[in-house]
Amino acid sequence: MATVFLNDTFLPAEQAKVSVYDRGFLFGDGVYEVIPVYGRQPFRLQAHLSRLQNSLDGIHLNNPFDKARWTQLITQLIEQNESDNQAVYLQVTRGVAPREHVFPEGVKPTVFMMSNPLNSVPESYKEQGIKAITVDDIRWQRCDIKAIALLPNTMLRQQAHEQGAGEAILIRDGVMTEGSASNSYAVFDGVIYTAAKDNTVLPGITRDFVLELAAKANIPYKEESVTAARLSQADEIWISSSTRELLPVTTLDDKPVGLGIPGPIWQQLDELYQRDKLEANK
Ligand code: PDD
Repeated sequence: MATVFLNDTFLPAEQAKVSVYDRGFLFGDGVYEVIPVYGRQPFRLQAHLSRLQNSLDGIHLNNPFDKARWTQLITQLIEQNESDNQAVYLQVTRGVAPREHVFPEGVKPTVFMMSNPLNSVPESYKEQGIKAITVDDIRWQRCDIKAIALLPNTMLRQQAHEQGAGEAILIRDGVMTEGSASNSYAVFDGVIYTAAKDNTVLPGITRDFVLELAAKANIPYKEESVTAARLSQADEIWISSSTRELLPVTTLDDKPVGLGIPGPIWQQLDELYQRDKLEANK
């Protein structure tokens, strides 16, 4: 039975209960993180905790714990769950209060953490790549905040799923922002393009890692947007996230991307990714 953390206590998942007045439930008023764990070591934990702080600042909610306490609790959660590779999910909501839009004062935030096994993606995703579709980015103007209110993301991902695709690539004002649950990249003539970190994308921890690997391998990259029109001419397209790592998109809107197979730059970076993810732990 999985062990979770809720409001200062570790307990079996089945026993964890949240009030119906929790603002996370009523308003989606909260933020979250997903942290990959390899060989029982959280990957880039401090970067995830820094992004959590930015998300909390973004919604004007005090951080209930300092980094040392988060680190201690996450370490305990990993210890109490079985798999060597895990995906730690944590969320902080504004807590329990009568339903009123204005933020309540003096309310203790609700902290919930769980850890699920982190299964590697099916080999076919890497051998053949995945399908993606482009869709209109219907999300809000603060996509840099990792908010638990994910209805647009889930709707867009569902749309992709119904069309047999593994991800929806989002287009806002004519340019690619990111995926419904991932950052996205396009390669033209050996140069990687990914959207700059602004309010239209989540600053992915995996994105940072991928760009660091590219820099180490002397593969040029630009943090610049790519137009939807140009995207259909890309040599390679990829997505990245903590749970899916770096995946090649080989079919976009039912048309092959480049040669329709995972490209050489993806291949090179994925090899470095698999090697460095275990060492680069910090
Ligand atoms: N999502 N952009 C969006 C909209 C995301 O939801 C995610 C990750 C990313 C990639 O961020 P990172 O590399 O830090 O995982 C980008 C997580 C995995 C989720 O919602 O499950």
